Amino acid sequence: MPKLNENYLNVQDSYLFAEIARRVSAYEELHPDKAGSIIRLGIGDVTRPLTKSAVEALHKAADEQAVPETFKGYGPEQGYAFVRKAVADYYRRNGVNVDPDSVFISDGAKSDTGNITELFAKDNVILVPDPVYPVYVDTNTMDGKQIIYMNGTEENNFLPMPDESVKADIIYLCSPNNPTGACYNTEQLRKWVEYALKNDAVILFDSAYEAFVSEPKLPRSIYAVEGAKKCAIEFCSLSKTAGFTGTRFSYTIVPEELVFSASDGRQMSLHDMWNRRQSTKFNGTPYIIQYAAAQVLTEEGMKECMENISYYMENARIIAETLKKKDIPFTGGVNSPYIWFKCPGGMESWELFDYLLENIQVVGTPGGGFGVNGKNYFRLTSFGTHEKTKEAMERFDRLF
Ligand code: MLT
Repeated sequence: MPKLNENYLNVQDSYLFAEIARRVSAYEELHPDKAGSIIRLGIGDVTRPLTKSAVEALHKAADEQAVPETFKGYGPEQGYAFVRKAVADYYRRNGVNVDPDSVFISDGAKSDTGNITELFAKDNVILVPDPVYPVYVDTNTMDGKQIIYMNGTEENNFLPMPDESVKADIIYLCSPNNPTGACYNTEQLRKWVEYALKNDAVILFDSAYEAFVSEPKLPRSIYAVEGAKKCAIEFCSLSKTAGFTGTRFSYTIVPEELVFSASDGRQMSLHDMWNRRQSTKFNGTPYIIQYAAAQVLTEEGMKECMENISYYMENARIIAETLKKKDIPFTGGVNSPYIWFKCPGGMESWELFDYLLENIQVVGTPGGGFGVNGKNYFRLTSFGTHEKTKEAMERFDRLF
């Protein structure tokens, strides 16, 4: 009989967004007459189609695959050089230098933030904010790793800062934050980098929402802070930036500077370890997708993406307006597609989830799914259409 990974007994039966989908389906089955009027502002899935240049590039790359002269089989596991360079160029235009050799192309920040745990031993002190994107917690739990939490609360604007009395080895940060929409400024990130360098820790920095930063002073990468290449891995994706949730493209930056000592004193490079891991377990993102991603990452390609992002940010404005009108405290919606608000009437988040679904057929994400500090909060996404977002907020306005 196989001995199973019993750490799976320690995670909830289903992943947060799978659980929400399950509850919505159950509601639809019970109320088929209401199914058509459900508005989904739960999972951060985009509704705008791919940009023109992305679609043209997909067609062009597909045509290349149709003839022997340009057909491509296995590509480099790290990603094609042209797209790694396109990522580095994108960073350079945003004022940050990264070496194309430190860029690893993948199929999602979710996969990479989950898989990166393989590089670290079980007995690390892993520091995770609460509330947090559940993938960080679930993947470490599946690995049998111990997690300690730092509180994100109204008092610290949902941006926990280092506590010198806590000695962490691995620190997860996400900015702009999922779920709260809060965004660290450079000074705050500098404090985290200083802490990591002083404590020989690694920061796993998720910047999946960087393209939504609208305040020019706010950092869009941890590498905007000096010294970060010695202590941070950064994860980013085109899912939200370019509407690639169904197309799948992401990149992880593992600088060569990230070198730590093994227990026998030998030096181990996280870059080389990740390279070894990826070349052993991953055969790369499809060429067609990488080709399209490279077009998206050009100046022209990104202009088109920004039109879609402005579209979503108009939804964020509509959601924020309604919450302001109702005097409901919230964060996010300015540098982030997410709005995180206090549940009205002292409700708990899963209670509000059911209440909204039952009464106005609006689906959101209960804050409790992101950690105990989210128990009385709720997340709405701005990735819907204008029409549906407006309709949802009109229903919300009438309900409260
Ligand atoms: C979310 O809604 O938090 C995200 O869409 C989940 C993800 O990116 O995996």
